[in-house]
Amino acid sequence: MSDSKIYPVSDELAATAHINNEKYLAMYEQSINDPDTFWGEEGKRLDWFKPYTKVKNTSFDPHNVDIRWFEDGTLNASYNCLDRHLATRGDQVAIIWEGDDPSESENITYRDLHERVCKFANALKSRGVEKGDVVTLYMPMIPEAAVAMLACTRIGAVHSIVFGGFSPEALAARIEGAESKVVVTSNYSLRAGKSVPLKLNVDKALEHEAAKACVDSVIVVKRVEQDVAWNDSVDVWYEDLVANASADCPAEEMEAEAPMFILYTSGSTGAPKGLKHTTGGYMVYAAMTHEYAFDYKDGDIYWCTADVGWVTGHSYIVYGPLANGATSLMFEGVPSYPDNSRFGRVIEKHKVNQFYTAPTAIRALMQQGEDVLGDSDLSSLRILGSVGEPINPEAWEWYYRIIGQNRCPIVDTWWQTETGGMMILPLPGATAAKPGAASRPFFGVQPALLDADGNELEGATDGNLVIKDSWPGQSRSIWGDHERFIQTYFTTYKGYYTTGDGARRDEDGYYWITGRVDDVINVSGHRMGTAEVESALVAHPAVAEAAVVGYPHEVKGQGIYVYVTLQAGFEQSDELLKELRMHVRSEIGPIASPDLIQFAPGMPKTRSGKIMRRILRKIAEDDFGALGDTSTLADPSVVDDLIEHRMNRK
Ligand code: WT7
Repeated sequence: MSDSKIYPVSDELAATAHINNEKYLAMYEQSINDPDTFWGEEGKRLDWFKPYTKVKNTSFDPHNVDIRWFEDGTLNASYNCLDRHLATRGDQVAIIWEGDDPSESENITYRDLHERVCKFANALKSRGVEKGDVVTLYMPMIPEAAVAMLACTRIGAVHSIVFGGFSPEALAARIEGAESKVVVTSNYSLRAGKSVPLKLNVDKALEHEAAKACVDSVIVVKRVEQDVAWNDSVDVWYEDLVANASADCPAEEMEAEAPMFILYTSGSTGAPKGLKHTTGGYMVYAAMTHEYAFDYKDGDIYWCTADVGWVTGHSYIVYGPLANGATSLMFEGVPSYPDNSRFGRVIEKHKVNQFYTAPTAIRALMQQGEDVLGDSDLSSLRILGSVGEPINPEAWEWYYRIIGQNRCPIVDTWWQTETGGMMILPLPGATAAKPGAASRPFFGVQPALLDADGNELEGATDGNLVIKDSWPGQSRSIWGDHERFIQTYFTTYKGYYTTGDGARRDEDGYYWITGRVDDVINVSGHRMGTAEVESALVAHPAVAEAAVVGYPHEVKGQGIYVYVTLQAGFEQSDELLKELRMHVRSEIGPIASPDLIQFAPGMPKTRSGKIMRRILRKIAEDDFGALGDTSTLADPSVVDDLIEHRMNRK
C-alpha cells in the first residue's frame, strides 16, 4: 500500500545491527545466485563432528521431491546447544524460567542445563530408548520440557511434542502415528493458579489399544504436590530416574539429514500431519534467523512467549537461542495472571531485551486499555517480534507505542511449521517496517505469487504464495508418508513449495500475508483444519452434517463458526449447543472449541452434493452482499434461512 505508514530503520540500528540494508541486499543476492557458497559459510556457525563437503542437494520435482542440506556432514543438535558453550559460557544463564506463580523463577546456567540433559538422556536410555526411536513429549512450560528435548536429540531419539492443550484423543492419534515408545509428561500442569491433569490425559490416551501397544514407559515430572493414578508397569517418576543417572552422556554423532523431530500440524484435509525436520539444515536455519531477526547480541535477555508444543517454541525458545549461546526466557504462565500486567512485570523483572509474541496476545491486552501493563519498566526492550497470524495495523501501532514505547522496531515474522524458521520478515537493522506487512524475504528464500493456473505474477499484485527453491530449515517429509508430503506441498503448482497462504506484493516489493487460501483457519495463532473440527462434530450422534468456517474475531483473529444439521429426531436446544461444544473440546482440545454454532436445516449444496463453503464463509463474515452466484445451488432457499438465523449479527 503506497499510503501505508513507514517506520524507517533507526540510524543507531543501521550502524550497529548484524545486518543493515546494504548487507541485506548483498547477502540476499549471493544466497540466491550462489547458495552453495552462501550456506557453506553459514553452516560454519555450528560445530560439526565431520564437516560437510556438499551443501545443497534439493529437488522440488513432484516425481521426486528430495531435500538434502550439508548431507555428508555429521553433528549433534544438543551438543551445539550445550557442550560447545561450556568452555566460554558455562556459568552464563541459558534458561530463565518464570513460573505461573510470579514468586517462582529459576536461572539455569549452561553448565546446569548440560548436566540435567545428560542425566535425563541416560535416563531415557535406561528405559530402552535408542537412536531413531520416537519419544512423545506432552508437557507444561517447565525446564524439564527443554531438558527432555535436548536429551532426545543428544541420543539421536526423535521427539514429537504434543501441545499440552490437546485432548487425550488427539494425543493418542499422535502417539500411534509416530509409533512412540515413551511419553514424557508431568502429573499436572499449572495455568493461572489452577492445576490441569496432564498425566490423566496420557492415561486416557493409552486406553486406545493402538497407542497402548506402542508405549512402554510414561515418564512423569512431579510439577504439583498432588496425587495421581499410577500404573507401576509403565509409569515412572522423572525425579527417580534422574536421581540415579550418570551425568556423563556423550552426544551421538548424527548425519545432517538424520530426523531430529516430528511436529504435527493441521492441513485442509485428513488427519494432522507429522512433519519431519532433520538436524543440520534445521539447526543452521534456526540459529541464523534467531540471531538476525532479533539482532541478538551476547548478553541479551530474549523472551519468546510461545509454547514448546508449537514450532515457534522449538525454533525460538530452545534450538535457535541455545545454539547461539543466548539467554532464553521460558514462561509457564498466561498474560492475564495474576493480572493483565504480567507481561510487563516479567519484562521488568528479567530486563528483557527482545520480546516475541503473537498478535492475539497483543489484541487481548489492547482491549484492557493503554495502562494495562501498569507502571512496569519496559526500558530494557530493544526489539519486538510478532508471529502466528497477520498483525492488523491497529494492533501493530499499539504494540509499537505501548510496549515498544515508540522506540523498538517490530519484526513481523511470517513462517510455518513446515518452514522450520522465519521466511519473510523486516530485519530490524535493514528493512523499514510497514504495519501489517511481513515485508522482505530472508536469505535464501525466493517467494513468488501465482495465479490459479500457476503462472508467476510480476510486480504489485495479489496471488498464491509459493516458494521457488529450498532453504535449509524446510521440512523434509511427512513422517511415514512421503507421498502425502509431495501431494500436499508440491503438486498444486509444479516445481514450487505451496504455502497455502495468499499474499499481496506492493510496489516496494513488500509481501503482505492475506491469510490461508485453503480450508485451514487460524484461531489465536493456532492452526486448525476445518475438516478436523467437522469430523469431530459428525462423530456426535445428534449431528447429521457439519460445516466449519472462520469468521473475523476481535481478539482471536479468526473465530470458529459452525453450521450443523441435526439428525432426524434431535431437537435444537441450548443444552445440545453446550454438549456439541464440549464434544469438540474433548475430541480435539479447548483450542478447537466453537465460538458460534448455528443450527442449519439445510446446507447450501451444488447439484452434485458438494457444500458451497464460499457461501457459508460469506454468511459467517456477515457479508451477505457478496454471496456471488447461488443459482447453481440444488436448493437456493436454504441460503435465506441461513442468513435469517445467522449468529452474532452486527
Ligand atoms: C500459518 C502457519 C509461524 C509459526 C507459528 C505458526 C500464519 C504465521 C504469520 C505472520 C501472517 C502468519 C500463516 C501460516 N502465519 N505467521 N507473521 N503473518 N500470517 O505456525 O501453526 O504452522 O501456522 O500461520 O497462515 O501459513 P503454523
